[in-house]
Amino acid sequence: MKIAFIIGTRPEIIKMAPLIDVVNKQGIEYILIHTGQHYDQEMSEQFFKDLELPQPDYNIGVGSTTHGKQTAVMLEGIEKILLSEKPDIVLVEGDTNAVLAGAIASSKLHLSLGHVESGLRSYDKTMPEEINRVVADVCSSLFFVPTEESALNLIFEGLDPHNIYITGNTVVDAVIRNLKIAEKTSKLASKLDLEENFITLTMHRAENVDDPQRLKNICGALLELEENPIIFPVHPRTIRTLKEFGLHQALEEAEHIHLIKPVGYLDFLILLSNSRLVLTDSGGIQEESITLNIPCITLRYNTERPETVKTGGNILVGAEKELIINNVRNIMGDESLYQKMSKAPNPYGDGKTSQKIINIILKAYDKGKLILKPPEDIGGHEGRYIQKVEYDMDVSQYERNNENSRIIAIFENGEARFPHPHLKLQNNTILIDKFRSN
Ligand code: UD1
Ligand code: UDP
Repeated sequence: MKIAFIIGTRPEIIKMAPLIDVVNKQGIEYILIHTGQHYDQEMSEQFFKDLELPQPDYNIGVGSTTHGKQTAVMLEGIEKILLSEKPDIVLVEGDTNAVLAGAIASSKLHLSLGHVESGLRSYDKTMPEEINRVVADVCSSLFFVPTEESALNLIFEGLDPHNIYITGNTVVDAVIRNLKIAEKTSKLASKLDLEENFITLTMHRAENVDDPQRLKNICGALLELEENPIIFPVHPRTIRTLKEFGLHQALEEAEHIHLIKPVGYLDFLILLSNSRLVLTDSGGIQEESITLNIPCITLRYNTERPETVKTGGNILVGAEKELIINNVRNIMGDESLYQKMSKAPNPYGDGKTSQKIINIILKAYDKGKLILKPPEDIGGHEGRYIQKVEYDMDVSQYERNNENSRIIAIFENGEARFPHPHLKLQNNTILIDKFRSN
């Protein structure tokens, strides 16, 4: 079996690394395709070093440009590679333009596509990443979703529950594997002379940093929050707009704000795990902070990681100056709130996600499920129905007894549930798809 991994940006390198580790250890054949969307040493190469990754077999070298052109160049480059390499499955991770291009290229070639971190939705279509997530999921054949909530997002978009696997998120594997290494090797703590009670800040999301008013509001809050040191590794996109909107100098001159270049993964884990609090608009850092028990304040109006908010580890504040200031001061000044936030349970799994994903892929390969074929039976979709189940049976028994039916969702005490094979159905309502057979 041969796997093609597609990566393009910093978070994809980090979250795909644990999967590449497993594949390497098991001697599974693979190729690594880097689209080159991130190309600076500190946005790409540094992570290959930190995570001990092999160099990519291909680098498309797309660089920075408009979304349309970037996606088109990647699409053309990926298609060419996939045609010559003929992998059994392509794996993409997350929601970047590299994922969009990889997903379209693979599905048009009828190659099996596994989407890692599938099913996340912010329900905000102005976010470029939301479009990428939805399109990637439409193109995918195997969905590796982090939580039941993300599984349900896919279910209600009509995707087949039999291809959805709730695996957790590989970010937890990456944190567990690398934190110990970071504690031994990172020199960041002594280099920055880290004080107690500092805040780590990151922001790069287009809707914040490309919008002068939002960026000004956030910077205004940072300047007022003088009572704690703020360490801010600045994404290249953000440096550019801070300077363009005339906001850079004030941050640089503020004594409590420390602007630094983006740091490598090992250094970032040290920074994050020693922070009192995190302020961010990053997706991955919302997950990492709950994994490391660090309270998180998210500079966004919505999140595709709602589990972090529901479990109490994360608060959304948008780019609202007063909300940012008040929430930072509340959390810093209220020990019981602080403890509650830092003890929020991690919804993203136990750190064994990568092995689970590879096991699922190997099983699917052995069963011939990675070969995508047009249907051979004459039949098709008959309709979608709701039914109340009277008898004592579970999902797999129901589906065995009703060969042409597939349970899409279960409603238990009014709440939608993913149809896990062993979930009991008695007295619950189910939503089913029925298929005709000849
Ligand atoms: C991209 C992803 C975003 C992800 C982020 C991770 C899309 C649509 N966006 O956003 O989902 O959260 O990566 O960090 O795919 N630049 C450099 N050096 C680099 C890379 C970028 O200077 O190595 C600068 C360029 O000025 C570029 C800008 O950053 O125009 C934005 O880069 P781009 O890859 O388009 O988007 P990100 O903001 O990095
Ligand atoms: N990260 C890093 N160095 C930094 C900032 C972030 O290694 O200076 C890591 C962080 O640990 C996380 C990932 O980069 O795993 C998040 O990437 P980013 O915020 O760029 O993208 P997103 O997750 O929002 O897509």
